[in-house]
Amino acid sequence: MTTIVLLGAPGSGKGTQAELLEERLKVPHIATGDLFRAAYRQGTSIGREARRHMDRGQLVPDDITIRMLLDRLDQPDAKRGAILDGFPRTPAQAAALDAALKERGTQVDRALLIDVPAEDLVRRMAGRWICEKAGHVYHETANPPKVPGICDIDGSRLVQRADDQADTIRARLTQQLGALAEVVDHYRRAGVLRVVDGRQPIDAVARDLLAELDPQVKV
Ligand code: AP5
Ligand code: MG
Repeated sequence: MTTIVLLGAPGSGKGTQAELLEERLKVPHIATGDLFRAAYRQGTSIGREARRHMDRGQLVPDDITIRMLLDRLDQPDAKRGAILDGFPRTPAQAAALDAALKERGTQVDRALLIDVPAEDLVRRMAGRWICEKAGHVYHETANPPKVPGICDIDGSRLVQRADDQADTIRARLTQQLGALAEVVDHYRRAGVLRVVDGRQPIDAVARDLLAELDPQVKV
């Protein structure tokens, strides 16, 4: 089983890199943000509750988030592992993940931090477009789709995220970076943290992330 945790500030490139790693490692990309957005589109009560926090740039409460993520890890496609994007985001979530993996006789293999300075994050989020169907990620200038407004992968329409408005972007950065630092420390103490320079072009970041994985993880 291979469990990779992708860490990084909002807009650092976790979703972009997780899509590339998924292709390479053949384990699913699981993003709690994407799960919350899907739940909201489906009109569930978890989706509505999550949305109230997301619209304010705040983290969704741990109990809801942990339950949703552990249910997703129980799906058959995650039996061989997962690339976790946006989870864990608090020390309580990190502890819950450690405990759940321990029960399965395994652990987090690598926590990869994509390091991007705060001044670049705003530009990245403001120019981001995602596809309606699966949340595939594009950027107006850094990673445009082949046909404007259409996802290269599944042909669905590209939309902007509700939390990519300027004031919500600022709220996310001020309210979430403290918890990220605590989670980074958690994995540094466990000896599995690696840091990659996220200011590079997308393919160079992907190359550096792959280089930080153990040879037995790379298939
Ligand atoms: P979530 O959806 O996870 O958002 P986030 O962490 O804020 O991260 P983003 O998705 O905004 O950025 P990313 O790092 O994936 O970057 P991307 O690849 O898109 O969470 C949303 C909300 O849900 C949270 O605010 C919270 O409320 C809630 N939530 C989710 N998980 C939670 C949890 N565990 N606990 C509690 N609450 C939770 O890239 C960004 C842009 O940059 C794109 O346009 C991309 O094309 C471009 N780009 C990417 N790489 C590069 C590069 N190397 N150079 C130039 N441009 C690049
Ligand atoms: Mg993302």
